[in-house]
Amino acid sequence: MLKLIPVPNSVKYENGYFQLKKDNLNDNNILKNNIANDIEQFANGFGIFSFWKNKENLTVSVKDDFSILGDEGYRLKIDENGILIEAYKENGVFYAIQTLKQIVVQCGEKLPFVSIEDKPRFEFRGFMLDVGRYFYTVDEVKHFLDLMAIHKLNKFHFHLTEDQGWRVEIKKYPLLTEKGSKRSHTNFGCVPRSGYYTQEQIREIVEYAHSKYIKVIPEFDIPGHTVSAIACYPELSCFNRKLDVATHWGVKHDILCAGKESTYKFVYDVLDELAELFPDGEIHLGGDEAVKMRWDICPHCQAEIKKQGLKDSEELQQFFMTKVNAYLNKKGIKTIMWNWDDIKPTEHLDPSITWNLCASTEASLNCIRGEMAAGRDLIVNTTFPYYLDFPYGWVNLKFAYEFNPVKGITEDEMKHIRGVEAPLWTEYVSNMKKAHYMTFPRLGAICENAWSLPEQKDWQWFCDRMDMYYSLLNVYGVKPATIKQSMPSKFVGAFSSLWFNRRMLHWQGLHNLIDDAIVKAKAKHN
Ligand code: ACM
Ligand code: ZN
Repeated sequence: MLKLIPVPNSVKYENGYFQLKKDNLNDNNILKNNIANDIEQFANGFGIFSFWKNKENLTVSVKDDFSILGDEGYRLKIDENGILIEAYKENGVFYAIQTLKQIVVQCGEKLPFVSIEDKPRFEFRGFMLDVGRYFYTVDEVKHFLDLMAIHKLNKFHFHLTEDQGWRVEIKKYPLLTEKGSKRSHTNFGCVPRSGYYTQEQIREIVEYAHSKYIKVIPEFDIPGHTVSAIACYPELSCFNRKLDVATHWGVKHDILCAGKESTYKFVYDVLDELAELFPDGEIHLGGDEAVKMRWDICPHCQAEIKKQGLKDSEELQQFFMTKVNAYLNKKGIKTIMWNWDDIKPTEHLDPSITWNLCASTEASLNCIRGEMAAGRDLIVNTTFPYYLDFPYGWVNLKFAYEFNPVKGITEDEMKHIRGVEAPLWTEYVSNMKKAHYMTFPRLGAICENAWSLPEQKDWQWFCDRMDMYYSLLNVYGVKPATIKQSMPSKFVGAFSSLWFNRRMLHWQGLHNLIDDAIVKAKAKHN
C-alpha cells in the first residue's frame, strides 16, 4: 500500500507498474512554472531525474469538467500510459504533485498503477510562525513555506509584531525597526537579538508563498503584545510609559491606549502599509493577552468607556477591535483575531471577525455556539495539541493525531468552521534546529486533521506511514524529533513539563508587581 500523508480521500490500486522514462528536455512545458519549480526542487533533494519534463511520463488536464473536485482537489492516475493529473484549478495540480512526490519517495522510478481522488476537508489549513520572539531569516521563512506545501497547508500566519521585537519595516515609523527590532538580551543569555524584514523582503516572501499556493496573513498584534512599539513611541501607551523592548517571556502589562485618537492614527497608518504589502485579503489583529490593568485607571481609556456607553475595559477592547476591523473592511480586508482563553460572549465584537480559537471547541461550546449563531467563523487552534512549542511530554504525537478539532460541533455549525491552524510560538525556539524538532513529526499528524476525512484517520496506519514521512522530510533537510522523542515516557514527560515551566520562575513577575504599584501610585497622585 502507498504511504501518503495526509491520507487521501480515496486510493484504488490496480496490478502493474509504470517505469518512468528519462527526461526529455525538449518537452519541458508540461507543468506551469511554479509547479515545475516545486517538483524540480524536490527532485534535486531526492536525486531523481526531471521525469515531468517528458510528455511520455506525465499529462496534466485542468478543466471546468472537474469542478466537482473543488478549487484544491485533484485526481492522480498512474497506469500503462503514465501519470495523469486532473484538476479544476491549478492548486489541485500542485497538490497532486505533492502526493506524487511521496509516491516517488517510496517507489523510486517504478510507480504502481493507482487511482487517487482527493480534496481537502477544510478551506483553511494554517501554520503560524512567531518571528517576534526570535527572528527567522527570509530563507528560513521560505523553507517553512516549502514544508507547509508538502503538508498541503495553504495559509501562512506571519506573527510579525511582539513585545520582544518588531519585524516589519513601516516607512512612516522608521523607529519601529531601527529600535523596536532589537532587544538587549533574552531568556537564554546576555546576547542581544535583532532582525527585521524590509518591505522588499516581505514582497519576496509573499511572492514565494504564492508560488506554493499559500496565502499570507500578517499579524499586527494589538492592543497587547506591543511593548516593542511602545519602546519607540511611548505616547502609544497609557501614561506614556518609557519602556525597553521586552527581553523576556511573559504577558506584559503595558498595552496600546484605547482612549487616544493618536493610537488609532498609528494603527491605521501601520495597517495602510501592511495592506499594500499583503494582498491576500486578510489581516490578523491579535487581540490576545491584553491585560487591562492600565486601561482600568487610565483617564483616556475611562473617558472612552463612558463616551461609548461601555461597561468596562473588556468591552472597550471589543469596541477597539471592532473599530479597527471596520477600517480594514473599508479596504476590502477581513479580520482574524485570537480568541485566547477568555471564552465570553462578545456583544460588541463585530461578528464578521473570524476567531482563531485557542480553547477547545468542546470546552467552550456554550460560548462559541452563540458566536456562530451570530455569524462568527472559527479557525481551530486549540492550545492542546496545536501549540507546536509545547513539549512532547504535554502533547505527544498520538494525542496530536487523534485530536478531534470539532468535538461537539453539529453538522449545521460546521459551515462556521473554516479549518485548523498550528502555531509555532518561539519564546523557547531560538533556531531552526529546535523549530524543526518541535514542529515535526507533529505537523504530519496535524495536517491530517486539516486535509483528510475524519473516517480515514487511523493511528496505527499513521505510524506505519512514518518511514515515508521521515524520508520526505529528509529530502527537505529537516531533522524531526524521532518517534521515540515524540512519544516520551511519563517520567520524561513530567520532566519536560517542569523544564518548560521554569519560565514561570523568572524575576519578571516581581518586576511587574513593583512596576504596577508605581503606575498606580502615580495615577492616583495625578
Ligand atoms: C496566544 O497564545 N498568545 C494566542
Ligand atoms: Zn489608556
